[in-house]
Amino acid sequence: MSWGDELAAWWLQEIASDPAYGDEVMPLALDILQPESGRRYLDLGCGEGRLMRAIGGAGAAVFGCDISGRLARLASRLGPSVVCRLPDLGWVKAGSFDGAYAVLVLEHIGDAAAFFDGVGSVVRGGGVLALVVNHPAFTAPGSGPVVDSMDGEVTWRWGEYLEHGSTEEPAGKNQVVFYHRPLDWLLNTAADAGWGLNRLVERGIAPERADRDPLLDRQRHVPRLLGVRWIRR
Ligand SMILES: C[S@@+](CC[C@H](N)C(=O)[O-])C[C@H]1O[C@@H](n2cnc3c(N)ncnc32)[C@H](O)[C@@H]1O
Repeated sequence: MSWGDELAAWWLQEIASDPAYGDEVMPLALDILQPESGRRYLDLGCGEGRLMRAIGGAGAAVFGCDISGRLARLASRLGPSVVCRLPDLGWVKAGSFDGAYAVLVLEHIGDAAAFFDGVGSVVRGGGVLALVVNHPAFTAPGSGPVVDSMDGEVTWRWGEYLEHGSTEEPAGKNQVVFYHRPLDWLLNTAADAGWGLNRLVERGIAPERADRDPLLDRQRHVPRLLGVRWIRR
């Protein structure tokens, strides 16, 4: 199923109950974006606006857009927000933002090359694109943890990492599609669209979470999230 108001209900429950968002996703997003006071940012796939609150709190102006009307309406309490269907950004004035960010969104967009091109046309030269995605090691079809029955060590099965692919994951009563692209493709495609790599961060499970769960504890070494910051050339 593609995103819309049905999945919005699931996402609102998910984000309220999952400590990973506050412990892992949010700190990484802020670290990668480094929002500056007085700048204008576009939140691509803003959801109900949790990051808009944090970034607006840093003194920046934030505009949201999301495919779900329900989520865009909730986000509009935090800043101007509209319904959009990424990667189409033809409705945004060229070069009108100092930066844009997409957090846990690109893995749901079928045409990632068009996404990098589109964002490139709305961010001014020298502006920023910050991306947080589920790590490609994690999204590869067939990937997952393998527990060694002899000593309990957890290793990682790569699955079809080097291929492009997609998986359908449960989302409440529905399913949501995750697109997988290997890391080299992601970085080369961004470079081809005029984005200069500035910072790349790979993160595993937050220590606070791993400390509470023996199975997660044994997966501390597995990358879960990827954060990338690019500068518009
Ligand atoms: C996992 S949620 C993340 C929400 C938000 N970025 C956050 O970090 O709280 C994914 C979001 O992307 C939105 N989305 C998915 N596909 C989209 C598309 N093609 N265009 C715009 N938004 C989309 C969903 O509606 C949802 O709000």
